Amino acid sequence: MSDIFEKAEQVLADIHAQAPANAAELEAFRIQYLGTKGLIKGLMEEMRSVPNERKRDYGQLMNRLKQEAETKHDSLKEVFEAQAQSAAGSAIDLSAPGEPMPLGSRHPVAVTMNRIIEIFTRMGFSVADGPEIEDDWHNFTAMNTPEDHPARDMQDTFYVVDAPGMLLRTHTSPVQARVMKNRKPPIRIIAPGRVYRNETISTRSHAQFHQVEGLYIDEGVSFADLKQTLLFFAQEMFGAPKIRLRPSFFPFTEPSAEMDIWLGTDTEKNYRLTKGTGWLEILGCGMVDPQVLENCGIDSKKYSGFAFGMGIERQALRLYEIGDIRLLFENDVRFLRQFASAM
Ligand code: DAH
Repeated sequence: MSDIFEKAEQVLADIHAQAPANAAELEAFRIQYLGTKGLIKGLMEEMRSVPNERKRDYGQLMNRLKQEAETKHDSLKEVFEAQAQSAAGSAIDLSAPGEPMPLGSRHPVAVTMNRIIEIFTRMGFSVADGPEIEDDWHNFTAMNTPEDHPARDMQDTFYVVDAPGMLLRTHTSPVQARVMKNRKPPIRIIAPGRVYRNETISTRSHAQFHQVEGLYIDEGVSFADLKQTLLFFAQEMFGAPKIRLRPSFFPFTEPSAEMDIWLGTDTEKNYRLTKGTGWLEILGCGMVDPQVLENCGIDSKKYSGFAFGMGIERQALRLYEIGDIRLLFENDVRFLRQFASAM
């Protein structure tokens, strides 16, 4: 009888001595000692042959065996699993799907600008460019607004302190002067870009906004050409059935006009946008003043032309039915994401 106790003690000593070094060895350990056909199970079955007065001791010995084997197994299992996990974390898994990268989208102002460019390029206009930090001559003087002219008050701007005569352009019109100085007619360009004004009229007005300038110079260009060009634009851009040209004043055009498009008053939105008139102002335009042509080295006896300048923001509001212009500048991704599919 004593040998069954001896045998059990030997197994206990073996369990202590065992040191499985990895998950596979640990599994072999489990099968050897804790498995359904394992050593401990075998020893338990010997209980029958143990005399009654020693059954209790034998039972206690069995419990110790089982506990020791299980504790060893469970704690090593945790260690090996943690090792496997950190190994997987540091290794690069080439088969894993890529991290999703957030894709940007075009800003509604850029989308609107692109639509305008697309319509005018279809009519044969090309895109011209000019600097945002402009000199006084191109921004004002060439555009027939000399230093003492009251029209300068309409467009106060930011001056560059260290560079006298340099300023942030107040409109895209100086691009007209740059193009006329460098090219011979026929000239047919649009000039989209950012412009600046020193304005604190209301919380809604901004120091910075966007315009698209247009210029067409050739022999015999008339007001009828201007009108037809703008009508085509209004139809393509807004589906507007008609336009209205109201007499106005700009130093660089004569005669000058402001163009309204017909939205109607059918919807509440149209009513609000047009203040009940049905008309929405979109741009300023006119026949290029002969003085501007001469300022830029173009013979005003031979050539004539028209010009126009339009704000982009208001068109973007109209196009996308945006209720508040500030949304365009707050850079709130939740707002901008809505234009992800626009081109
Ligand atoms: N530059 C003018 C402005 O910013 C807009 C403008 C009006 C441009 C008439 C033109 C034009 O080319 O002919 O208010």
